[in-house]
Amino acid sequence: MKPLILVIDDEEAIRLFLAATLEDEDYEVITAGTGAEGLELARERVPDLVLLDLMLPDMSGIQVLGGLKSAMPHICVIMITAYRETDTAVQAMKLDAFDYVNKPINLDRLLKVVAKALESNSEARRRFRNQQHGDLFGGIDDVVPSLAPSMQEIYDVVRKISGGESTTVLIEGESGAGKDVVANLIHRTSVRRNSPLLEINCAALPEQLLESELFGHEKGSFTGAAVQKMGLLELAHSGTVFLDEIGEMALPVQVKLLRVLEKMTFRRVGGVEDISVDVRIVAATNRNLENQIREGSFREDLYYRLNVVKIVVPPLRDRVEDILPLVDYFLGQFNLKFNKRFTGLDDEAQQALLDYDWPGNIRELKNMLERSVLLSSGEILQKEHFQGLDRSGQAVDLGRQVQDVLRKPFPEEGVDLEDLVDQIEESLVRKALAAAGGNQSEAARLIGLNRDKFRYRVKQYGIKES
Ligand SMILES: Nc1ncnc2c1ncn2[C@@H]1O[C@H](COP(=O)(O)OP(=O)(O)OP(=O)(O)O)[C@@H](O)[C@H]1O
Ligand SMILES: [Mg+2]
Repeated sequence: MKPLILVIDDEEAIRLFLAATLEDEDYEVITAGTGAEGLELARERVPDLVLLDLMLPDMSGIQVLGGLKSAMPHICVIMITAYRETDTAVQAMKLDAFDYVNKPINLDRLLKVVAKALESNSEARRRFRNQQHGDLFGGIDDVVPSLAPSMQEIYDVVRKISGGESTTVLIEGESGAGKDVVANLIHRTSVRRNSPLLEINCAALPEQLLESELFGHEKGSFTGAAVQKMGLLELAHSGTVFLDEIGEMALPVQVKLLRVLEKMTFRRVGGVEDISVDVRIVAATNRNLENQIREGSFREDLYYRLNVVKIVVPPLRDRVEDILPLVDYFLGQFNLKFNKRFTGLDDEAQQALLDYDWPGNIRELKNMLERSVLLSSGEILQKEHFQGLDRSGQAVDLGRQVQDVLRKPFPEEGVDLEDLVDQIEESLVRKALAAAGGNQSEAARLIGLNRDKFRYRVKQYGIKES
C-alpha cells in the first residue's frame, strides 16, 4: 500500500500543487480545505501523515493539530507556516508536530521531511497499535485491529478478563458485526488459550440434540444413545464454551445451563452423577434478550447470570475508520485466493464504501469484496465493480412514502396497501440477501422467515439468486 498523506490547507492552489507533487512521488494524497473537514477525513481514512497549514479559516492549525493528536497519537503531522508565524510553529513542535516547513515551500526540503516522517511513522504506528492493544494481537494475524474508540473499549475488557477466572461474557451485536471474532479473541488472549474453545450454535440444533451435545449423555438414556458421550462442557474443561445465538436456546436447556453457571456442575442426560467443570461460558446473540424475557422466551435469571460482562459490538456504520483497513485486509486475502493483483480502490469506490450503511456489517463487506475481486480484473477496483451499494437511498424513499401515508391526510387517489407492502417486503428480502452475501438460509433468518417462505418471496419478486 502507498503511504496516505492528508493535506489540510485553505488555498486551493497549494492543495493542488502538493497533491500533484506528492502523487508523483508515489504517495496517495487526500485534501481538505478547512480544519473541520480535515479532522473528519483523518478520522475516516487514518492517514500516515498530515501536512497542516497553520492558518485555516475555521480553526487554528494548532487546534487541528491538538484534535488530530488526541484522536490518533501516532499520527505524524508536518506544519506549513509562513515565516512570520515561527512562534506558533514552535508551539506546534511542543504539541508534538513532527516538523515544519516554511512558505514559500521549498520542494526538496518538503520531500525530505515527508520521507523522514513516514519512515519514523511506520515505527510510531506499530508502537501506537501495541500501546492501544497491549499484547492482545500478538500472534493474531487473522483479525484486523480496530481503530475505533468503541472497539478499543472492548479490547480493554478483553484484556481485563484474560486471567483464568470463569467470568461469563455476553456478546451482543448485529449480524456480521464480529461477535464470533470477539469470542475467539477472548479465548485466544486468555490464559485458557491452551485448552479447547468449543463452539455450538443454539439455533442449529433441535432441543434434545443441543442438550446432549452440551451436557453429554449416558448409554441408553434415549433411543439412539448407544454409547456414553461426553458433552462440550466436559470436553472444554479449563477452556471456553461459546454458545452462539443463545436467544434460540429452548427453555428446558436454559434451566440446565443456569445450573452450570450457578454451581459449575451438571449431569449428563440420563446421568445421576454431578460433574464439576471449569469453563468460561461466552454467549452471543443478535437479538434483544430483554425483549425475549418480556415475551417469555428467555429466562430472566439466566440473563443476569450470563450478563456478568457484557460486550456490545458496534455495527460497522458506527466505526467508519475500520472500513478501509478491512478492505485492505480482505483485498489481500482474496488476491491470494483468486490469484489476482488488486492494489486498491479508486477514490470514488472508497467514498462509496465509506458512505454505505452496511446492514450486514463486516460479513457484507467481506462478501462484497470477495465477489468484486473474483469478478473483476486489473489493479484498481472501481465503484462499478461493487454491486449493491446504492440500495440505502431507495430505502429512505420507501420510509418516507410510508410515513406520508400514515401522517398526512388520506390522499384522494387512495393508497394501494398491497403494493406498498410488496415494496417493503421486496426491499427487505433484497437487503437480507445482500447482508447475508446471497446465503438464503441466513437471509431468511435475518428477517424471521423460514426458508420456504423466503424462497417463495425470492421467486415472487423475481430476485436473481446468486
Ligand atoms: N476485525 C476483523 N478482522 C477481520 N475479519 C473480521 C473482523 N471482524 C469480523 N470479521 C469477519 O467478518 C465476518 C463476520 O464476523 P462474525 O462471524 O464474527 O460476525 P457475527 O457478529 O458473529 O455474525 P452473526 O451474528 O451472523 O453470527 C467473518 O467472516 C469474520 O471473519
Ligand atoms: Mg456469529
